[in-house]
Amino acid sequence: MFRRFRRLRLNGNMRSLVRESAFSKDDLIYPLFVTYGSGVRREIASMPDVFQLSIDEMILEARAAYAEGIRAVLLFGIPEVKDSVGSDALSAHGIIAEAVRALKAEVSDMLIFTDLCFCEYTDHGHCGIVDPKTGSVDNDATLELLSRQALIHAEAGADCIAPSGMMDGVVAHLRAALDGAGFVNMPIMSYSTKFASGFYGPFRDAAGSAPEFGDRRSYQMSPANAREAIAESLEDEAQGADILMVKPALAYLDVVRALRESASSPIAVYNVSGEYSMLKNAAAFMDYKRVLAEVMVGFKRAGADIIITYHAREVCRLIDEGYACAIF
Ligand code: PBG
Repeated sequence: MFRRFRRLRLNGNMRSLVRESAFSKDDLIYPLFVTYGSGVRREIASMPDVFQLSIDEMILEARAAYAEGIRAVLLFGIPEVKDSVGSDALSAHGIIAEAVRALKAEVSDMLIFTDLCFCEYTDHGHCGIVDPKTGSVDNDATLELLSRQALIHAEAGADCIAPSGMMDGVVAHLRAALDGAGFVNMPIMSYSTKFASGFYGPFRDAAGSAPEFGDRRSYQMSPANAREAIAESLEDEAQGADILMVKPALAYLDVVRALRESASSPIAVYNVSGEYSMLKNAAAFMDYKRVLAEVMVGFKRAGADIIITYHAREVCRLIDEGYACAIF
């Protein structure tokens, strides 16, 4: 009689005792879309239960999330005016600078991560300055602008900046700019492995950031390349990134695992907009809470330390209900 695997599965307390992976509220970063105006709470058509929020509404959302146990948000800005260089991102009174100051004043214990990129701020929707000669993003000109954006976020009171534009050399450039201005304690969470993915579709709706021409394949990675993905994350770690990231998450858990085995920095996964929408839209056909718990524990099992997810508040509720413990 062969009895090796089932004997530890027969009792719930025993299953809890031998459970290898778990997720907790401490792992979560909750992304928020901040827009101009007041009293604005506009649902994003492709992302049920996710909203574009004016600063006053964002604060209400952050406060509610804080009360549920979330301690970190990631802010994206949707400016009133977009132009070729993304001027709003370079102004001390731009949408993110104002949002950071307001949120710090109201929910001072909440960690504020800010996305550092230009696609939400430019009229052409690319992640930096477009070189008119090549029609492609000018790497080094964009680095200069990203450093200016980083200092604006730092001066406003952000706790961590998160460059997402996939420019080469960005981490070293930002580190030098921050250190030079005295922000030696400002960490950098780099979008160090970011694939050129169709899963960002709903986000581009949410932020109005779809490129007007071309696509992002000259700066984001090929979904086919795992070795390159690891190399680029390790390069960012060598340049001084404090937290690495794999994005999207679900189709790339092999990369998370491989990175976990070669990097020593904390690793975040970004459970992106398209992954969120897939689950929400399939809720009627599955046990939604159960699937959500499986997805979250899958990230942890793969080796992630941090989970950036639009499901963050739902995950807090699952945890409060003891749901994961009850089903695994
Ligand atoms: C900005 C940025 C994007 C996302 C995060 N930061 C969009 C993109 O690269 O097109 C996507 C997030 C999501 O899909 O949830 N560069």
